[in-house]
Amino acid sequence: MAHKDFVTLHDWTPAEMGDLLDLSARIKARPQEFRRALDGLALGLYFEKPSTRTRVSFEVGIFELGGTGLYLSPRDLQIGRGETIADTARVLSRYLGGIMARTFGHEVVTELARWASIPVINGLTDKLHPCQALTDYFTLREKKGKLSGLKLCYVGDGNNMCHSLAFGAAKVGVHFTAACPEGYLPDPALLEQAREDGRETGAVIEVVTDPVEGVKGADAVYTDVWASMGQEEEREKRLRDFQGFQVNLELFSRAKDDAIFMHCLPAHHGEEVTEEVCEHERSVIFDQAENRLHCQKAVMVTLMGKK
Ligand code: CP
Ligand code: NVA
Repeated sequence: MAHKDFVTLHDWTPAEMGDLLDLSARIKARPQEFRRALDGLALGLYFEKPSTRTRVSFEVGIFELGGTGLYLSPRDLQIGRGETIADTARVLSRYLGGIMARTFGHEVVTELARWASIPVINGLTDKLHPCQALTDYFTLREKKGKLSGLKLCYVGDGNNMCHSLAFGAAKVGVHFTAACPEGYLPDPALLEQAREDGRETGAVIEVVTDPVEGVKGADAVYTDVWASMGQEEEREKRLRDFQGFQVNLELFSRAKDDAIFMHCLPAHHGEEVTEEVCEHERSVIFDQAENRLHCQKAVMVTLMGKK
């Protein structure tokens, strides 16, 4: 495995994505076999933004692999007083076995990866959320028994989640439709990259502005909050602009009869999704949350394990 970092799924080939998904399944089935996989290694967890799932699943994950997690906040690090990312990355590389980072600017993670001599894992930036997307395709495969040829419709904001789901779809051969309101479409340059990636697997990546059209024939309907972390001040405007994009029973029923409902969480109940859909028998949101643990262990073992 030539990879050092897990910054974007765009960098991983379909075969490598398949290997990550298979390793995730092995780890989920037999976690005890991996108890010493990262014996004695420390993972730094750098968070500029809050987190429930990412922090806890990485901390528990590294512990269950025989290592230890170290929570690092910019408020406590010298970064808060102006130490550069380049220097911080080189210093941390002398202590740690890997760094997971959740940042506002995507460039912070790419800069860390550039200067660190240890693996850097993207735990969400304003642009991408690859750990979540990897887990989501793992969950979809677990529920449907396959990935190739399935259709996933993402309804809502063309945000970090939407981008990483598009990249992931391209790598695993899923037909991806983003249904987003005008003004909130995904980044066209990223989508073009995902479309190019998709040529290898036959994945179709498309954008529509009509959610009913989007979910038609979908095997999975996915949504995320309308105002992401850092966009709190736009919340009121976004609540107005996203009218018609709520995943409610009516919209969900337009997908396939056996479609599953997916959400990365946290959810704003009554905004992007209704209570009925979150609690639906075909909602898999807590399986997605659990699978973060297994899939991220696979990422850590792949990047940080002995070669
Ligand atoms: N889905 C996700 O990344 O959740 P957290 O923000 O709680 O980490
Ligand atoms: N788009 C959301 C995802 C949270 C996991 C955000 O960035 O806040």
